[in-house]
Amino acid sequence: MKFKNTLVGLSLAAMSMLAFAQAPIVIKFSHVVAADTPKGKASVFFATRAAELTKGKVKVDVYANSALYKDKEEMEALQLGAVQMLAPSLAKFGPLGVKEFEAFDLPYIMDDYNDLHKVTQGALGASILKKLEPKGIVGLAFWDNGFKSFSAKFPIKSPADMKGKKFRIQSSKVLEEQMRSLGALPQVMAFSEVYQALDTGVVDGTENPHSNMFTQKMHEVQTHMTLTEHGYLGYAVIVNKKFWDGLPADVRGQLEQAMKDSTAFANKIAKEDNDNALEGIKKSGKTKIYTPTKEEKLAFKKAMVPMHKKMESRIGAELIQSIYKETGFDANKL
Ligand code: LMR
Repeated sequence: MKFKNTLVGLSLAAMSMLAFAQAPIVIKFSHVVAADTPKGKASVFFATRAAELTKGKVKVDVYANSALYKDKEEMEALQLGAVQMLAPSLAKFGPLGVKEFEAFDLPYIMDDYNDLHKVTQGALGASILKKLEPKGIVGLAFWDNGFKSFSAKFPIKSPADMKGKKFRIQSSKVLEEQMRSLGALPQVMAFSEVYQALDTGVVDGTENPHSNMFTQKMHEVQTHMTLTEHGYLGYAVIVNKKFWDGLPADVRGQLEQAMKDSTAFANKIAKEDNDNALEGIKKSGKTKIYTPTKEEKLAFKKAMVPMHKKMESRIGAELIQSIYKETGFDANKL
């Protein structure tokens, strides 16, 4: 009897060891936007591709819409290892002490996706991602979203229309200065709280790419939107360094490939998603969309671009100059 019990015990132990050996490595990937956005879709694409390429050795669980953590908490959770992967917007790295990412927030520094990719897909982008390593974070890729419009419960045709009004921003000192340069009052707020703040009038307006506005239904609680395209909002996909370095080399290589494929996918769908979202907002009839004239656009530029100089001490004059060189931007020729 004793012998039989020992045998049962041994085979149970063997079975659980086998199960343990086959248990997939789990990556919790948390983000704050809707599933139906460029980031939402690309994170699910990554999960599928990671499972395929690792033959099930890695399971990526995606948590959308701040279901797990809000903006600030997700950064802390990544550093503590409570989640392994995130794709925060580039505006959210300042509080981590990596201010170089805020260069992407400088208004008008990039005209279009073409300019953007010269920075994000080249050596300059790679050097910015490298800055994360002393923080215990590895930067894997840049994922596109899109160019921002202003929205509010009043028409916006010039900076004067924004004077004294409260505008929600992400946690970036550059965005804070951008709003001040327009005479507006910046209010830092987590993304998950923006819809309600717009609805109840805690803030008067906001800025975001159209995909974020539309999927959060912000246009239902705003009446006007102006296609200023004054700045860019996109992402860095990041992973906890200890976790990443601890992966078997072959698995890490497969995940790198999955990330490469997901980046190509994200950057392919981002523009179309934003164009479709703008169409959706138009069709809803809830928000009036205004396209500024050339002169009106110039007035926004003239109000905002001088702040680039002011931000040199924060971001680094050399980095700003390197981006200008890539994109051909000239602050003296607007
Ligand atoms: C925001 O807070 O407005 C955005 O960063 C949300 C996001 O992740 O796109």
